[in-house]
Formats: sequence, structure tokens, C-alpha cells
Amino acid sequence: MSGTRPAAAHASTVYERRELAAIAARWDARADSWEEALQDPDCHLQEGEAYLKFERLLKRCVAGRREFCAGNGVIDAGCGTGLVLAGVIERFAWGMGVDISPGMIAVARRKQLPKATWVVGDCFQLKRLERPAGVVVSRGVLLSHYGEEGGLEFLRAAHEVLVPTGFLVTDFLNAEARTTARHAPGDKHWFTKLEIQSLARAAGFSQVVIRGRVADRVHQVIAEA
Ligand SMILES: C[S@@+](CC[C@H](N)C(=O)[O-])C[C@H]1O[C@@H](n2cnc3c(N)ncnc32)[C@H](O)[C@@H]1O
Repeated sequence: MSGTRPAAAHASTVYERRELAAIAARWDARADSWEEALQDPDCHLQEGEAYLKFERLLKRCVAGRREFCAGNGVIDAGCGTGLVLAGVIERFAWGMGVDISPGMIAVARRKQLPKATWVVGDCFQLKRLERPAGVVVSRGVLLSHYGEEGGLEFLRAAHEVLVPTGFLVTDFLNAEARTTARHAPGDKHWFTKLEIQSLARAAGFSQVVIRGRVADRVHQVIAEA
């Protein structure tokens, strides 16, 4: 896999070194302006309507397993201000948002979402934080922040906290779009579909479907436990 890794990504980042305090401080600084920043059509996270596509896909997955979701919980890993959880929680028995940034969690808590709890915590430790959930969601390309090793560990943590028939919906930076994307950070890991499929299988997932076109900066993953 490392053969496809861009040269700039060899430098170890705070994510690859898992410096959680530094990571939290970075996101704390963005917490109060996060939702406003997402409204900017030039925001890198909106390129190719990636955030919107994630929300639509998640809603379709949840609608397709309506009864299952209604009887189970949902965990939003790296929930930020809770936008993703807010969009689906009514379809679940309970919801928990986990984020390393106290600032992000403070904004999420102020929303007072029914059935939701919010935890300042590490998404690599999901099983310690919560009981088994039907669904884990994580939007914002955490896999690409943490790289191959961290990505595998994150997928394992998600798999570990899922009930046996549960599923994960997440996203990653698509290697095929690395040279054409308008926003192409050199310090993030760009994965191919095959790499993500193989990482997810190594983490214990049985079926892995990747959504997205070749030119899309971000691809979405649906992985069945
Ligand atoms: C790109 S933002 C996405 C936020 C949110 N999911 C959304 O869609 O608006 C990534 C989030 O992941 C959080 N994060 C990064 N590393 C984390 C970790 N190890 N555990 C929990 N949260 C983490 C950051 O604090 C930040 O809020």
C-alpha cells in the first residue's frame, strides 16, 4: 500500500503520531465557526458536495434498515458539532457523539438533541466509551487524517463497538482524484478503493462497498460488521 503513498505524506503528522492534545487544540480553535465555515461554497469539505452526499447516503442506509436502526443506537465518531447525528438520531433508539475536541462537544451539547449524549473522547477507544451500537458513522475523512496504521485501528475500533449485524458509514480521500482535486492536502493519506476494502476486511468487516466517482475528492464507505 505504501507504494501509492504521495511523497509529502511520508512526513509524520500530529495525527499519525496520535498527539491527541494537539489535535484537540486545533479543532477547539475551529469549533465556534465550524458550521458557518461549512456554509462557504469554497470550503474544501464541500468540494464535490462531499458532505451532502454523505448525509444522503447515510439516510438511504438508515431507511433501508429502518427496524434495525429503531432498535439500536448510533455512534458518531469525530462528531464535531453533531451535524450528522442530528440528521439521523430520530431514527435510532439512542445516539452518542464522540469527539476529541471539548470545544466541538460544547457546541453539540448546546443543541440539546433528544436521545443524544456527547462525550469528549478518542474514537480509537469507542468500546470503552459506549455499549454496542447498530451503526457507527464518521464524516470528515478521519481515515485520511490518521493514515494506514491509524486508519486500520480506527476501523477496528468501529467494528469492535458494533453489534454483529451492524454497519459503519464513513469516508476517505480518494487517491484517484489527488492530482485533480481543487483542495489536495499533502499531509493527508489518499486511499484507493482497494486499499480501503482491504483495511476494512482486515479490521473484521465482512462486506465493504465504496461509493463515489473516479473524479470525486471524497469517497464514502459502507462496511457491514
Ligand atoms: C473534519 S471534522 C468533522 C466533524 C463532523 N463529523 C462533521 O461532519 O461536521 C473532524 C472531527 O474529528 C475530530 N477528531 C479528530 N481526531 C479524533 C479522535 N481521535 N477522536 C475523536 N474525534 C476526533 C475533530 O475534533 C473534528 O471535530
